[in-house]
Amino acid sequence: MSDEQVSRRSVLRGVAVTTVAGVAGYAVAATSDAAGARAATTAANGYGADEQTRSRLAALADIPAGGGLILDDARVVLTRAEDGEVLAFSATCTHQGCTVSSIEQGLIVCPCHLSRFDLATGAPVSGPARRPLPPVAVEVTGEEVFIG
Ligand code: FES
Repeated sequence: MSDEQVSRRSVLRGVAVTTVAGVAGYAVAATSDAAGARAATTAANGYGADEQTRSRLAALADIPAGGGLILDDARVVLTRAEDGEVLAFSATCTHQGCTVSSIEQGLIVCPCHLSRFDLATGAPVSGPARRPLPPVAVEVTGEEVFIG
C-alpha cells in the first residue's frame, strides 16, 4: 500500500464522515426549529391560540345586569351580577338533560319539568333537579366574553 493510496483513503473517509455529520446536524436543527416555534406560540398567550381563534360567546352588553343570556348553540348560560361580574353555567339541565330555555324572575328555567336554578350559583331552587348547573369557565376581555 503506497502513501498515495493511504492518503486517498483517508480523504474519502473524511468526506464521508463530514457528509454524515452534516446531514445529522441538519436534521437536529430542523427539529429544534419546529419545537421552538411551537413553544413560542404557546408562550405568547398561555393557551396556544391568539384572541382571534378563541371562542367568543357574547358581548358584555348582551348580558343584562341581574339577568342572563342563554346561548343555545354553545349550551351555555351567561349571567351577570348587579356588580357586573359575569358567571357561566352549562345550559343542560341536571334533571334529564333538556336545555334551559328562559330566565324568569331571577331564575334560570328548564321547560321540560320546570326546574329553576339560581342565577348566581346555578343551584336548583325548585322542581325535580337536585344538582346545580355545572359552572363553565369564561374570560372577559374588553367588552367581549370568551369561553375560558
Ligand atoms: S329536564 Fe329539566 S326539569 Fe327535567
